[in-house]
Amino acid sequence: MENNNTISTLLVANAYGPADVLTFQDFDLGELRNGYARIKTKTAGINPIDARRMTGEFKHSGLPQTFGTEFSGEILAIGENSQGFKIGDAVLGSGDGFTHASVIDVPIGNLIRKPENISWEVAGSVAGVSQTAMTILDEIGDIKSLLIHGASGGVGSITVQLAKERGITVIGTASKRKLEYMESLGAIAVEYGDGLIERIKAAHPEAIDAAVDMIGTEEATQASLATVKPDGVIATIAGKPVSSKRVIPIWVKRNPKNLQFVVDGLASGKFQWEIDSVFPFDKAKDAFSKILEGHTKGKLLLQF
Ligand SMILES: NC(=O)c1ccc[n+]([C@@H]2O[C@H](COP(=O)([O-])OP(=O)(O)OC[C@H]3O[C@@H](n4cnc5c(N)ncnc54)[C@H](OP(=O)(O)O)[C@@H]3O)[C@@H](O)[C@H]2O)c1
Repeated sequence: MENNNTISTLLVANAYGPADVLTFQDFDLGELRNGYARIKTKTAGINPIDARRMTGEFKHSGLPQTFGTEFSGEILAIGENSQGFKIGDAVLGSGDGFTHASVIDVPIGNLIRKPENISWEVAGSVAGVSQTAMTILDEIGDIKSLLIHGASGGVGSITVQLAKERGITVIGTASKRKLEYMESLGAIAVEYGDGLIERIKAAHPEAIDAAVDMIGTEEATQASLATVKPDGVIATIAGKPVSSKRVIPIWVKRNPKNLQFVVDGLASGKFQWEIDSVFPFDKAKDAFSKILEGHTKGKLLLQF
């Protein structure tokens, strides 16, 4: 085993609050564990959960906090019992803890080969939202129509395409400026805001089989209750309080096979991937401020 590059620069927060709490810290990764690869990070997606943990809305761990769940990068070193990959391989996947860091250690089982025709930017932002989208569709089960609230964001953009691929009619809510984008992904696009229920009914007059809320607004809950069949699933991934007991929460389940499925679809051109913006690592504060605003189209990421 070659074990160079043990020093990683990490994004950390020593307090809860807006992006001003973010700072950088050098960290010695030490000896590489068996079954792990050491990766020079190329890009890492940012998800709303990173920023919501930063503010203290979610307190999954104590302080100091580290961030990031996904990455793309190149293998620098391989631990023992790490068959299948070699130094220099281009990979992507879910991290083992933080990925907003210049060098990370990742279990071999989390690694997916980066296809050559996928950019580092796309590769580094695929894991979280793809596995979330696959979890949503698998847990909702066999349906013919699906209402997605907040379909233009990171999770929504791939959920629309995966649902279409399963033959599901998708009604996706978005702001006016993103309606065309929604249609390009294959959704029946409906603008959110006053009159949403009437617009959904006009776009899809039959009752809808299921709905998933990616925003967490009362408007989304009421629209789902008014347009989904009485026995249809109404789910939320937003992690916000809901006013109806009918709304069930769904939480992402990591599954490398699901991730591989999406990566294959991107490599073959079956799925498209929208990058909203790429921030250099030293501008992470700006990136976290932007994702907190909640207007992302597709994915936001850090470049190292
Ligand atoms: N449960 C889980 O396991 C899980 C996993 C992943 C993500 N999540 C959560 O799911 C949510 C969505 O994540 P994401 O990565 O897709 O977010 P995102 O990339 O920030 O996208 C949010 C999208 O929603 C649109 N939007 C804003 N207000 C809206 C409204 N009232 N109605 C409809 N659309 C609206 C935004 O565009 P405009 O502002 O232009 O409309 C934006 O395109 C987050 O809260 C995240 O924390 C949960």
